[in-house]
Order: sequence, then structure tokens, then C-alpha cells
Amino acid sequence: MARRHDLVCCFIDETIRSGMVVADIGCGNGIYTKIMAAKGAHVHAIDFAEAALDLTRRNLTPKELGNVSLARVNVLDTAIPKVDVALAVGVLPYIKSAATFFQHVMPSTKILLFNYLSRANILNVIRQKFDVLNVRGVHCHGDKEIQNLIQVHECAVSRRHRIATGFLIEARKISAAR
Ligand SMILES: C[S@@+](CC[C@H](N)C(=O)[O-])C[C@H]1O[C@@H](n2cnc3c(N)ncnc32)[C@H](O)[C@@H]1O
Repeated sequence: MARRHDLVCCFIDETIRSGMVVADIGCGNGIYTKIMAAKGAHVHAIDFAEAALDLTRRNLTPKELGNVSLARVNVLDTAIPKVDVALAVGVLPYIKSAATFFQHVMPSTKILLFNYLSRANILNVIRQKFDVLNVRGVHCHGDKEIQNLIQVHECAVSRRHRIATGFLIEARKISAAR
């Protein structure tokens, strides 16, 4: 978790600039919404849990809140607004259909940072076999399935970090790739 957090902070530091429009999908307590809003980006903080949006709102200074739109949205039902960059950290493990997630996210952003739990990882193989070990009810995704979805949406992987039992991926629209 600490490594994932460091990598996400590095990404934000390198990529997010004042005036950009960004989405924090599954914003949780708003930790990344806060960092991006403090940098002067306009952040769409999106979560389907009202409690997460309340927490995010409470964690923002009035100045940061001026840069944030909070929206109660299920990303499996509704496409995100048009943005320059989207983050979905810790979200795909709670989503069964990666295809639906990508359909509602990828057409609306030039860059997506997300992580997933790999179906091929031995610990995840065991977790999926024995329900009793999957206490959080997480979903794992195939590495090829994710790669295919990235390609289908005319994106390319610009960075891929192995973290714990999965990967953190930075995908860019081919037209926006470095
Ligand atoms: C593990 S938390 C991660 C929070 C934050 N991104 C972070 O890294 O600290 C996952 C968040 O995603 C939200 N979430 C899960 N599925 C979602 C969906 N289909 N649509 C919107 N939000 C979702 C949950 O409510 C939760 O706040």
C-alpha cells in the first residue's frame, strides 16, 4: 500500500498541472482529490458511496473545495465527464466487469492511472478458489484481458508497476502517448 501510494503521488507530481481537468474515480477519503486540487487542477471526485463523498468534502480546505466537484456516481452505470487525466486507485478490485469500467472511463480521458489484482498471481489464484479467504470479496482480472481492453480503447501502456498481487498501470491514448 505504501509503495502504491508513493507511485500514485509520483504520477500526480509529474503529470497534474494547474488548470487541468481530472477525475478521481472511487475517491474514498479524497486523499488524491486533495493533492490534485491543491495543485490547482479541477477535480471531479466520483464515488458511489455518499460516505466517501462526505469524507472527501471534510478533508478539503475551502480553497481546495473550490477546485472540486463531488458526484455520487456508479462508474458501471454512467460515463465519467471529459477530463485530461483520470485516476482509479483501488477501484477495479471491487468491479467485476473491467470491460464496463473501461467503456465508461477510457473514451473520456487521455490518460488513466489504475490498478488491478492479477488473476495469474498465485495468492489470487488461492483467494479465488476459497471464498472464505476472500473476505473483502475482491475481483481479480486477467493480464491479457486488461491489455486487450487498453488496446481496444486505442491506448497504450506507458508505465506498468508490479504492486503486491497486481499491477499499477498508466495508460495513454495513442494520440497522447509520449
Ligand atoms: C479501496 S477504496 C480507494 C479509495 C481511494 N481511491 C484511495 O486509493 O485511497 C475504493 C473506492 O471506490 C469506490 N467504488 C467502488 N466501486 C465503485 C463504482 N462502481 N463506482 C464508483 N465508486 C466505486 C468505493 O466506494 C471506495 O470509496
